[in-house]
Amino acid sequence: MKSVLSGVQPTGDLHIGNYFGAVQNWLKLQEQYECRFCVVDYHSMTMPYKPSQLRENTWKMVFYLLACGVKPETLFIQSLVPEHTELNWILSCVSSYGELTRMTQFKDKADQLREVDGDAFISVGLFGYPVLQAADILIYHADYVPVGKDQEQHLELSRNIAQRFNNQFGKEYFVAPQPLFTETPKILSTADPARKMSKSLGEKHYINLFGEEERIRKQVKSAVTDTGENNSGEMSSGVKNLFEIIRACGAMEAHDSLMTDYTNGSLRYSDLKEATANALLELINPFRLRLAELNADKRNVKEQIQDSSAVIRQRAQRTMKEVRELTGLGSLRG
Ligand code: TRP
Repeated sequence: MKSVLSGVQPTGDLHIGNYFGAVQNWLKLQEQYECRFCVVDYHSMTMPYKPSQLRENTWKMVFYLLACGVKPETLFIQSLVPEHTELNWILSCVSSYGELTRMTQFKDKADQLREVDGDAFISVGLFGYPVLQAADILIYHADYVPVGKDQEQHLELSRNIAQRFNNQFGKEYFVAPQPLFTETPKILSTADPARKMSKSLGEKHYINLFGEEERIRKQVKSAVTDTGENNSGEMSSGVKNLFEIIRACGAMEAHDSLMTDYTNGSLRYSDLKEATANALLELINPFRLRLAELNADKRNVKEQIQDSSAVIRQRAQRTMKEVRELTGLGSLRG
């Protein structure tokens, strides 16, 4: 069976853009492939953070993903498999400084830090972020990585690193991972529909999947619909976004009937918003119930993920044994 690897940063909240853009797809992939999904806490150390918050957010993300229906045996915490960092080091020795300086996410994040403070501290960790990502993927010899546009460049780098390693160490050892492009709904910020929904834009911009019902309704109600950007008669991006959310929730009946109203010129935005909130809540409610169940059994759930991480770690350890052999490092016993 072909294998898939993907990762998500423990950002603290899971918003509907993350859900429709990634998690919903994982739920399908786990039925077809040998999947490993990783909460990448090492990666979160590349931007300023608080230690206690990182641990809390890591577990929060684990619980959210389980509540959405990710299978526990596919899910693990990156730092519970410390072999990722060992491979990161080895791969950094077959990555070039020049290619890393061309990574647009590094440039964006460094700019983001400098915007706040001109002399901001930019770590080598942030620079090497994509090499650690390559280690996440290559250590399991993953065949496929589901990617969005923003991660395409990093995946290309992973392929180059795999090939360079193979050339240097004389063996087709690593699999060059293929991108798995899946059409996923692109959800835009509800406060600024010119931009993709993202946590880093600020609280107004994203809808938390596990937020309070009242808050979700309020946020949808205040979503920007007409920005005055167009007088061409085209549907504005804010309105399109709400239709997209309804469609992504699978509420096609509501979607189609509102679309007919739109075509007839009789659509009321208040109706569109109400339908959007209803569709979202209908999708989310079962997740919420499951989250409550998981929270009632916290210790057990944590143990389960520690166990799944330990099982997944064995695969990573096997790779590292072979990599140490190939690269001339002092080999371990056993
Ligand atoms: N960089 C990815 C992101 O920001 C997260 C990630 C880390 C990842 N390791 C990965 C994604 C491995 C896919 C495969 O979204």
